[in-house]
Amino acid sequence: MLRAKILGLGSYVPDRVVTNEELAFLDEKHVRQPERQSETTDAWVRKRTGIEERRYVANDGETATSDLALHAARRALDDAGVTAEEIDCIILGTLSPDIHFPGTAIFLQRKLGIAREDGCACYDIRQQCSAFLYGMQMADAFIRSGIHKRVLLVGAELHSHSLDYTSRGRDVTALFGDGAGAMVLGPEETDDPRAGVLYTKVGADGTGAWDLHLKVFDVRKMPHFLRDEETHDPKNVYPQMDGKRVFLNAVRAMCMTTKAALEQLGLTWADVDWFVPHQANLRINEAVVQYAEIPPEKALNSIQVYGNTTAATLPLTIDHHRKKGTVKRGDLILSSVFGAGFTYGAAVYRFG
Ligand code: UT7
Repeated sequence: MLRAKILGLGSYVPDRVVTNEELAFLDEKHVRQPERQSETTDAWVRKRTGIEERRYVANDGETATSDLALHAARRALDDAGVTAEEIDCIILGTLSPDIHFPGTAIFLQRKLGIAREDGCACYDIRQQCSAFLYGMQMADAFIRSGIHKRVLLVGAELHSHSLDYTSRGRDVTALFGDGAGAMVLGPEETDDPRAGVLYTKVGADGTGAWDLHLKVFDVRKMPHFLRDEETHDPKNVYPQMDGKRVFLNAVRAMCMTTKAALEQLGLTWADVDWFVPHQANLRINEAVVQYAEIPPEKALNSIQVYGNTTAATLPLTIDHHRKKGTVKRGDLILSSVFGAGFTYGAAVYRFG
């Protein structure tokens, strides 16, 4: 039986560490000012989210999401022992694309040096915090059907340039960080039903579409980009979120999808090494661990040091714990995700 195997993993975060304490002093270009710019505190952010710090790119106008993706992709390719030329499909998830179009996967292809007349397939997916699992489902299907042989799956996010650093935006701004993670997947002929990607299930509930969104432009309007007076309306240019509704729906969906994954495969937590959930709020993950009856020692988080990096959280968290020696090749991982849309999903996969 042909299965999709995870051949390599890599991640990247920029060097600049922004603590909760520093966040309160950042202006709209995230430059530290002597005076407090926002009424937010380290104590509030730690207690309500578990976040202690996050990473930001340099604000020199030079770095794009595809650059973060490039670093992570190169590391995943090295880890897999696969060259960029061998990749026949790139799937990239982001809610912070380089520009409106073409997609960021195209820019990544160029930066990897593999853009050419008969270049590989490139997909951008816009499923926010659920993008990595949506992409894993696509990669798995492509590989098992023989459509593609070497898939580069990337989640990359550059949030720090589109956050509201005033008190008005403090609920959202406290959550997000910049970063990227990537996996290389390829075919493996095996009879082992627990090899590679075992299970993926994703879904969406559009009733939550406006509960977490960022507008920036409105295609119904002519011109579709925002006029001067509209660009000054923070509701149009910064992410808008009903935090409580997102929180409650996240806990419910992640519990449901986690339990369904185990049930579908006939597995228990004794069979699974790690629970690696999306990293939106440590309190969400702790509630899921409690209500879905997950052994707490199997739950891995990284939100404390990276914040929410949206499409990148899963590979970033796994790589973070691999570097610490916690996650090893051969481990079986269950992931569940929830994000804007609402979108959600779960997957069970063997790492390496
Ligand atoms: O990846 C998916 C995307 N997002 C999520 O999953 C986020 C889900 N939601 C959440 O994580 C939480 O709802 C938040 C962390 C965003 C907010 O936590 P909360 O416990 O739901 O707080 P709240 O919105 O009820 O706000 C309580 C108070 C408010 O002040 P008042 O109105 O009581 O005076 C907020 O304005 O806390 C205030 N507040 C803050 N205070 C200091 C909100 N953000 C901050 C902040 N610093 N950063």
